Amino acid sequence: MASLILVTGGTGTLGRRVVPRLREAGHAVRVFSRRTHEATDGVEYVTGDLLKDEGTQDAVAGAGIIVHCAGGRKDDDVATRNLVRAASQAGAPHLVFISVVGADRIPVVSAADRAMFGYFGFKLAAERVVAGSGLPWTTLRATQFHDLALMVAEQMAKLPVIPVPAGVRFQPVDTDEVAARLVELALGAPAGLAPDIGGPQVCSMADLLRGYLRARGRRRPLLPVWLPGGAARAVRAGANLTPGHAVGRRTWEEFLAYRVHGPA
Ligand SMILES: NC(=O)c1ccc[n+]([C@@H]2O[C@H](COP(=O)([O-])OP(=O)(O)OC[C@H]3O[C@@H](n4cnc5c(N)ncnc54)[C@H](OP(=O)(O)O)[C@@H]3O)[C@@H](O)[C@H]2O)c1
Repeated sequence: MASLILVTGGTGTLGRRVVPRLREAGHAVRVFSRRTHEATDGVEYVTGDLLKDEGTQDAVAGAGIIVHCAGGRKDDDVATRNLVRAASQAGAPHLVFISVVGADRIPVVSAADRAMFGYFGFKLAAERVVAGSGLPWTTLRATQFHDLALMVAEQMAKLPVIPVPAGVRFQPVDTDEVAARLVELALGAPAGLAPDIGGPQVCSMADLLRGYLRARGRRRPLLPVWLPGGAARAVRAGANLTPGHAVGRRTWEEFLAYRVHGPA
């Protein structure tokens, strides 16, 4: 029987691509959001806040599967702990969590690490909450989404000279492809830590930016900057990459062509 599926973060960049896929698979979907939304065909909304632990019990009630896509720059462990507590009291749903490649390999120790890469520490702490929850669970680590890379490039391109962290590479992946894999995992048996998902190409941050500038027909000088700290060192060594799991198909250039110039 198709179960009710709760999608936290179902309004976000990833979550709003997860929700229609679950609907297509015939499931009723509940989305948890900090804002109120009108119910639409097969999708209901619960308003609350995971960090404040408001609305969490109502959100998890009756859900057989929870796809946990809600997240921010910090405190994902706190949000996840609140979700897990409510879910455990409500039953034993399959908890599916989206994390980030490098969470276990990027050390967040110093103030510099925390300032620039604290996000990875929060994701690792949240992963541990999921794995220790006692619930059936699946965690998927993804590399940076194309949408995030685009947002960063758009912001940086507003500067007259763009500072580019030296030696930093990315393996951006299409958000749709991550959503499809997350749904596949959610509808399957709990898998624990699933194989990573990364995009088809590893490229330097400078190349990502150059691709963006080219697609926009803009020119900007790039200024290499050296990031201090152990986390930055780990990233320069490729801790945020997963070349053995380059399963994404859509390239950065293809994504840019679509987003900047629209569908062919
Ligand atoms: N972006 C990337 O490149 C990337 C890569 C790997 C993993 N991830 C992970 O993927 C997940 C989704 O990322 P995204 O890019 O889709 O993020 P996003 O676009 O910023 O969306 C964040 C979502 O989280 C919800 N949310 C935030 N704080 C909340 C709170 N306190 N209580 C309840 N809901 C809250 C928001 O819902 P409302 O605003 O409606 O409340 C929104 O739907 C995150 O866990 C992120 O760490 C992202």
